[in-house]
Parts: sequence; structure tokens; C-alpha cells
Amino acid sequence: MNYSRKIADSLYWVGVNDRRIALFENVYPVPKGVSYNSYLLTDEKCALFDTVDAGFTHELLANVDHVLNGRALDYLIVNHMEPDHCASIADIVDHYPQVKIVCTAKAAAMMKQFFDFDVDHLVQTVKEGDTLSLGAHELTFVMAPMVHWPEVMVTYEKTAHILFSADAFGSFGSIDGNIFADEIDYKCEWLAEARRYYTNIVGKYGQQVQALLKKAAGLEISLICPLHSLVWRQDFAWLLDKYSKWSSYAPEEASVVIAYASVYGHTEKAADLLAAKLAERGIRHISVFDVSKTHPSYIIGEAFRCSALVLASITYNNGIFCNMDTLVHQLVAHNLQNRTVALIENGSWAPTCAKQIREELGGLKNCTVLEPTLSFKSALKDEQAAGIDELAAALCEAIGQ
Ligand code: FEO
Repeated sequence: MNYSRKIADSLYWVGVNDRRIALFENVYPVPKGVSYNSYLLTDEKCALFDTVDAGFTHELLANVDHVLNGRALDYLIVNHMEPDHCASIADIVDHYPQVKIVCTAKAAAMMKQFFDFDVDHLVQTVKEGDTLSLGAHELTFVMAPMVHWPEVMVTYEKTAHILFSADAFGSFGSIDGNIFADEIDYKCEWLAEARRYYTNIVGKYGQQVQALLKKAAGLEISLICPLHSLVWRQDFAWLLDKYSKWSSYAPEEASVVIAYASVYGHTEKAADLLAAKLAERGIRHISVFDVSKTHPSYIIGEAFRCSALVLASITYNNGIFCNMDTLVHQLVAHNLQNRTVALIENGSWAPTCAKQIREELGGLKNCTVLEPTLSFKSALKDEQAAGIDELAAALCEAIGQ
């Protein structure tokens, strides 16, 4: 059965949806699944852009066979060697023995690590600015190291102005019939998951994404074809602005995300009270998360959206509560920058975890951790509510609200 979609003249989406997957990269929850996008451009020569996850090879081959309708597959362009996109390469080589693989030298080296076929015999390596003519279409290869692995390139087709953008501009979530972003309310339905995808998958490599954006700015673009989620054919300025903010670690808005660790609800109450005080002072779009039941990827996405972050934690084993410890570690690992952070700590006999959180956050660039820490024992008392209000005021001042 064929599930390919024609998305432009001579261009077909031949990818797949994966709604059975629970954890993308065996880490990130994907309640709405994910798509592995592969594209086929037909011309005098036919080129396939990337493949799909190993579990979907048969579906990919059926789609490609249908579109080719007996023609040969001349080229497989490999923009990225992560297995969600490269897993079916050996099957493509088996199925289309005349195919040439076009990729970077680093990708070829990885191909040898992943596969046993004669890579050197089939690969044609390309560098920045190299071109390949398919007939009416001409491809130019643009290096994009660390977006999201070192071997990555993106491919630009200059006749129809198509950017095959690899992981860039992708998102979690399946393609639900509507394959173009402009067919859904993307500012509402796509943005939060795209932010979570970007910040968790590529967030650490902002500098490299900025370098790619600089190159993309010089290209006329009519269509962006990422390796996950929707295809873009309009509102590129909005999309590029989001990527520009995320990759430069600039907040999207003056707002606050509060993440709390609470065993019996007392620290949660303090977090709730702070959220209410912030709202009363005019802060909008505040979000509050329990670190024990929220995967850190959601909080990291929100930390990239907001200008300020509050971490409220109980003290546990004389240290940071385990789930909060994971979040703090992940925030540092994902290179969050340019934020204001406030700390609240609780402990029934020795509230000490904020000192350790503060030390760990020392690894964040250009972030201000407000003084003092709001510290309390067991449960917040009426007389301590003023401290919460002061913290709200300090946060508002720090983020210019
Ligand atoms: Fe979707 Fe980095 O692979």
C-alpha cells in the first residue's frame, strides 16, 4: 500500500508516522507520536532525501516504489545519520542497487560504523557549496554541523527554492493528514511541542544553529522540508524568529515558569502562592510544574520560553530532591542562558538544598540567581507570605515587569 503525498511539483513526501513510540530517543515522551519524513524528488534523475526509522522500512519502500513507478532511484541524499533517519539506508541499497549515496565525509564514516555494506563503493561525498544536477533541479549542499550531529548537512534546491532542513524546523507529533503548517493553527497546536523538540534535541547547540540561520538568510526559500513534522510554505519570518530566539537563548516573553518538588504538598503551596502573587503583579502565561510527574523536557521547553525560572524544592537525603536534581542537571546540560532564577527551599529540620542548586546553576551562562533564597521549615506560615510577595516583586523587577 502506498501512503506517499505529493507536496510540490515533482516532490513527494514518502515518510511515515510513528504513533506507537512512547519515548523519542528512548528519553522524551511523545504522546502525539512523531513522523519520520523522507522526500522523493523526481526529475531526469530521482533523489530520495533521507530514510526512516528501522521499524518502518517496508512502508518507506512501498511509498518510494509507488512514486518511482518502475524508474530507477539514482541518488540517496543523506543529510543526517541519526538512526531515526538513516536506519533504512542498507535496505535502500539492497532494493535499488544502482543508487549513489550523497553525504558528508563524516556521514560516510558513520555509515561504516552503522552498516556492513561497501560504503566507499556507493558514496559520493560533498562539501559546503557542492552542487548536484538532477535535470531541471539543482541541489546545493550546505554544511550544518551539530544541528544536531557533527555530520549534518542541509540541502537546498535552487529552482523551486526548497530547503531540506534535516532536524531543523522539526517537531514532535505525527502528521495528522494536514502536512503543511499553514493547514493547522500552528501558533497554537505546533509551537509548544516544536519548542520542546528544539530545546531538548538541539538546544545545547545554539551557536551552530545561529550559523545555519545566517546561511539560510541568504537563500530564497519557498518550501522547508524538515525530517520531522510539518512542511512549511509560508510565514517563514515567524518560524525563523522562533529559531533565532531559541538558538540565541533569548526568552520569548517576560513570563515565569515555576518547577517544584514537593512530597506532602507544602512546597507546592508555596509555589502556588508565588504564582498567584506574580499573576496579581501582571505576569501572564505563568506555568507551574511538579517535577515528580512532569518529564524534564517539558520544563526545559518552558524555561526557553520564559525569562525567569523558579525552582522550589524540598531537601532530601540532605541534598536536592532526586527529580529536582535531574531537572537542574538537564537545564545546565541544555545550555540555558540569559535567565533570572529564584530559589525556594523547604526542609523539616535542615533546609539546605538551595545552596547545592545554586552551585549547580553556576554552570549556566549569564543567568542571575536571585538573593536571598526563600527558606522555610515544613509548612509556610502566614507571617512568611510577605517573603513570597517580596520574591514576586524581585522577579518582576528582574524581568522588567
Ligand atoms: Fe531526528 Fe537528530 O534525528
